[in-house]
Amino acid sequence: KKVVLAYSGGLDTSVIVKWLQETYDCEVVTFTADIGQGEEVEPARAKAEALGVKEIYIEDLREEFVRDYVYPMFRANTIYEGEYLLGTSIARPLIARRLIEIANQTGADAISHGATGKGNDQVRFELGAYALKPGVKVIAPWREWDLNSREKLMAYCDQHDIPVDFSSKKKKSPYSMDANLLHISYEGGILEDPWAEAEEDMWRWSVSPEAAPDQPTYVELTFEQGDIVAIDGVPMKPHEVLEKLNKMGGDNGIGRLDIVENRYVGMKSRGCYETPGGSIMLRAHRAIESLTLDREEAHLKDELMPKYAEVIYNGYWWSPERRMLQAAIDETQKNVSGVVRMKLYKGSAIVAGRKSDASLFDESIATFEDDAGAYDQKDAEGFIKLNALRLRIAAGKGRRQD
Ligand code: ARG
Ligand code: SIN
Repeated sequence: KKVVLAYSGGLDTSVIVKWLQETYDCEVVTFTADIGQGEEVEPARAKAEALGVKEIYIEDLREEFVRDYVYPMFRANTIYEGEYLLGTSIARPLIARRLIEIANQTGADAISHGATGKGNDQVRFELGAYALKPGVKVIAPWREWDLNSREKLMAYCDQHDIPVDFSSKKKKSPYSMDANLLHISYEGGILEDPWAEAEEDMWRWSVSPEAAPDQPTYVELTFEQGDIVAIDGVPMKPHEVLEKLNKMGGDNGIGRLDIVENRYVGMKSRGCYETPGGSIMLRAHRAIESLTLDREEAHLKDELMPKYAEVIYNGYWWSPERRMLQAAIDETQKNVSGVVRMKLYKGSAIVAGRKSDASLFDESIATFEDDAGAYDQKDAEGFIKLNALRLRIAAGKGRRQD
């Protein structure tokens, strides 16, 4: 029997390795990915080896993560509940897919992860896994064991000779965090009181808007079919774009968020997020779309967006409805090309200019200066009268007007 575990190299998932070996008497295969969390992944190898793991997968998935997951999601201007840019949600389908591919390669019949039984992540990992390998077995230790406190975990380490330095992710943060190229998230600790303001030193990627430079930073983003392909004229790969914008955004206090959100499992949860690059990308993408999309196309796309966001938040990336929505969204992006000039200043990402060869903006029609163009103001009279017809009929028949 063999199980592939999503392994971070940290204390929790190291305990899971031992626990799986003992409880299920199985071979554990570990999978550790660099998706831009900002921590070395290579140390996970020695740790896994020390735990007796023979098949160890360590991969750099940063490019794939941004190119095949983050970018497609941003084409829809995706936001959950009006605020959350889905930084954690969008990484899970990639992890799920690699877990299953590795299971197939190594002949494993089960996968395992370190998500708790109270959150969204378990749902995302497992929906993905079942969608990609219908007969797969899933082992979620947090739903089975009774090691539900730090003390019990440490005691388990002692009893099983799991080196203590496995827990030494510098000083243990008081928050439950998750980081990748799109965001870093904080939950738990003092944040469990929705009234309590996050401490300034919790934030790791951005300066506070108050502490940001007094001079604005300008940046030009080149879009091709909805995706950013260059910064200030320099071509870049998707993950390089996000790395660079995270830095610029963070330096200018952009992308902090503090919300209470509805988890799929039914509870409300308070979370803080830093999404500096993503916040800039979202604004800039809307700006280039404002020039290049047809009105009805744009509005319909906006109606679909909350549904698409919910699909991703709830863990249904590998589903027919997500593919269907993606096809519609991608179809709209054919002409979404051009350049957006952004001004980054004290927490705000402000659009300063936009231009496109595929622009639908027609100065000769929009201008207030000249009346001799394609637009005849007299046409507006009939347009308004016919649109008012049903309103006038109702009013004429005495229907209430207030
Ligand atoms: N609440 C966010 C979400 O559901 C963030 C989850 C963070 N996950 C974690 N393992 N710390 O997408
Ligand atoms: C967890 O419970 O493992 C993290 C939070 C979440 O998945 O929503």
